[in-house]
Amino acid sequence: MPKSEPRCEPGRSEVQAHRGASAVAPENTIAAFRAAAGQGAEWIELDVALLGDGTAVVIHDVSVDRCSSSTGKLSDLTASDLQKIDADALFDARFKGEPLPTLAEVLSALGELGLNANVEIKQHPHHKSLDQLVKTVDEHLKARAPQTKIMISSFDAAALRRMHEIDPSYELAMLWSRLPDDWSDVLQSIPARTVHLGYKSLSIGFLEEAAHRGIKVRAWTCNDPKLLASFWPVGLTGVITDDPSVYLS
Ligand code: G3P
Ligand code: MG
Repeated sequence: MPKSEPRCEPGRSEVQAHRGASAVAPENTIAAFRAAAGQGAEWIELDVALLGDGTAVVIHDVSVDRCSSSTGKLSDLTASDLQKIDADALFDARFKGEPLPTLAEVLSALGELGLNANVEIKQHPHHKSLDQLVKTVDEHLKARAPQTKIMISSFDAAALRRMHEIDPSYELAMLWSRLPDDWSDVLQSIPARTVHLGYKSLSIGFLEEAAHRGIKVRAWTCNDPKLLASFWPVGLTGVITDDPSVYLS
């Protein structure tokens, strides 16, 4: 069998739109996921957390202050409050009225858009328990459109461990900004076979070691393809980016 050539860029299925195409639309909104599909992305990344009443919402922060027209901590909000919140604060009037979406609404939209999702579980202090969080997320994921592929990521190894216990078929990715010395032990303890690493912490040595151990590595959040050019040939698997168009055009 001929030896395959080393890659010099990511394949289309390995470009994930970070919080949707958040360079061109308000992050973690259906508008941002629609924009990602429009750019030709096949995968989006989203952040999920719970409101005070346990509703699963797609948002990065512990409050709605930065990204919306409202203020308030997630812990103080309930599903009925979402009607009054526009997630438009980071963009112009074109996005007026764009809602802060629930996980259920986003999964429904992804099915219609033909997108797959990297679901990042955000473990916040106001959540009643880790179990409440992961069981809620799992119940939503089980109800998704059958064509929507899912992977789960988190900075919280305990959240990934619990997801594995609930359903061992999930692909799990451990998130780190910088690689800890015990990275391999942490992965084995979950168990997970994928690392999502802050792109500034990538090294050729780590990618070679990961490839040797059969571990996938994706880089976040890199919007300049030149910065990753040297890493594809040594086994970088994929990229999470605010602007999929720079990798897909
Ligand atoms: O999945 C990569 C990235 O989303 C992790 O960081 O803070 O943007 O959720 P953050
Ligand atoms: Mg994220």
